[in-house]
Amino acid sequence: MSFTAKIWDTEFPGVIYNSSGPRCTTLEELSSLWDSTSSAIMMKSCSPEPREGNPLPRYSEVELGSINSIGLANHGYKKYIEYAAELKKQFPNKPIVVSIVGFSHEDFIMLVTAFQNEENVDVLEVNLSCPNVVGKPQIAYDFEWSDELIAKLFAIPGDKPIGFKLPPYFDPIHTEMMAEVLRKYPVSFITCINSVGNTLIIDPETEQPLIAPKWWLGGLGWDYVKPIALANVRSFYKLLGDKVTIIWCGGIKSWVDVFEHLLAGASMVQLGTVLGKEGTDCFERIEKEFYTYMDKKWYTDIKQVIWKLQEL
Ligand code: SIN
Repeated sequence: MSFTAKIWDTEFPGVIYNSSGPRCTTLEELSSLWDSTSSAIMMKSCSPEPREGNPLPRYSEVELGSINSIGLANHGYKKYIEYAAELKKQFPNKPIVVSIVGFSHEDFIMLVTAFQNEENVDVLEVNLSCPNVVGKPQIAYDFEWSDELIAKLFAIPGDKPIGFKLPPYFDPIHTEMMAEVLRKYPVSFITCINSVGNTLIIDPETEQPLIAPKWWLGGLGWDYVKPIALANVRSFYKLLGDKVTIIWCGGIKSWVDVFEHLLAGASMVQLGTVLGKEGTDCFERIEKEFYTYMDKKWYTDIKQVIWKLQEL
């Protein structure tokens, strides 16, 4: 059976790994990802300087999913360079993916330059979609700003694959506008979708919102967002074809979610909320269930499923 994946020359031993979300901020958490069957080690989005993030409570779970407003709490990019070196030394066979985030073109340029020169990092995911920074819009909703930024990032020397984590788009015109921007550059992959931003959940018992920051508004994940993630994956696959690897993130809790997203056009998937809830055992559980189902259907290669959605 062939269930491996590739982003440019970087080989992934499977198609499921963690998202830049829960349980990937500290070296201890990152090391435990190696101990799991995650196909890569994705690090928490890092900024030029360390960030405390937003005030607590900033994460909560309900039956249908999660709401978060972490506010990009991280140890700053220099620490993640150290972590990458440590991880590569201990665990040389797993790709290390860095997620970077900035607040100006200069921030992003500095970070991409730093990681393009960092031998222990394999792949760069540029986060253009965090909804949780007070006073800052989600970058990838501004197509002109994104276009200018992406042009600058691809002008930086380096041979590591670069991809972009996108917010959910709700209007096909916007998906087309972003696809038009992406087509102009050698983008290796896109990750669809970041959480659905600026939503409100109220606890009827306490009569209070669940999280404190940003006037109680946060990014929604899991069951709530799966159909939105599916629609974004499908739309981008239709617009970009197989020139850009599509990585699905948002709403996975079982093998069936993985299967549906591969049908829609994703080649790889990232686990977020389920990893936060279940811990690193979720990789093995979901993989096993998924491979069992593939076996049952007599599929021997992941390519037999990707974008094989039957038309109505
Ligand atoms: C956060 O740190 O607020 C979540 C990460 C993201 O949405 O990119």
